[in-house]
Amino acid sequence: MKFFIDTAETAEIRELATTGLVDGITTNPSLIKQSGRDFVEVIAEICDIIPGPVSAEVVALDAEGMLREGRRLAAIAGNVTVKLPLTWDGLKACRGLSDEGIATNVTLCFSANQALLAAKAGARFISPFIGRLDDLGVDGMDLIHKIRAIYDIYGFETEILAASIRSAAHVEACALAGADVATIPPKVLKSLSQHTLTDKGLASFLADWDATGQRI
Ligand code: E4P
Repeated sequence: MKFFIDTAETAEIRELATTGLVDGITTNPSLIKQSGRDFVEVIAEICDIIPGPVSAEVVALDAEGMLREGRRLAAIAGNVTVKLPLTWDGLKACRGLSDEGIATNVTLCFSANQALLAAKAGARFISPFIGRLDDLGVDGMDLIHKIRAIYDIYGFETEILAASIRSAAHVEACALAGADVATIPPKVLKSLSQHTLTDKGLASFLADWDATGQRI
């Protein structure tokens, strides 16, 4: 499973990139707002840091506007993936951009039927939002399982990019469900490395090492 990071904070991206764990980045208008930076400038900087796919989202609501914005975003760097909302117009724009060879990520997916439409429209990625479904008391992971099953039955190549991930448990469940990618907030990514037994074991090894009086 590939790891994308869900952030527009370039300092965080630079730090996480040193681990070699970051396969791509997703942003959205809210994350751009949080960064306080110019949209085009920040996407260009992220594309320089991370060679993998970097999602940049359109804000137009009509297909023509999305196509126009999508082409502009794709011109920023070769690794920009144009993020489009899962609306009727978003699907039209997805088909248009995909036919032009521009990679797309169809976002705000909350049902298996929506994911089926995105795959048929040529999306490179589909982004089902797990956490926001969980917030409504609906099992977000169930959606990942359904999309995986449908895409496998019909051999769709659209990658399942599990989004709205809130916890380490979500990441583990996505991996078991066969999601191709999980886009993870930086804090959650770091939490994947943590275990109390790791901390306890390390403390006891270091105490024993100190007792030997040796140095490396
Ligand atoms: C994905 O591309 C979205 O940017 C993101 O995962 C949304 O997460 P949220 O529901 O925590 O805002």
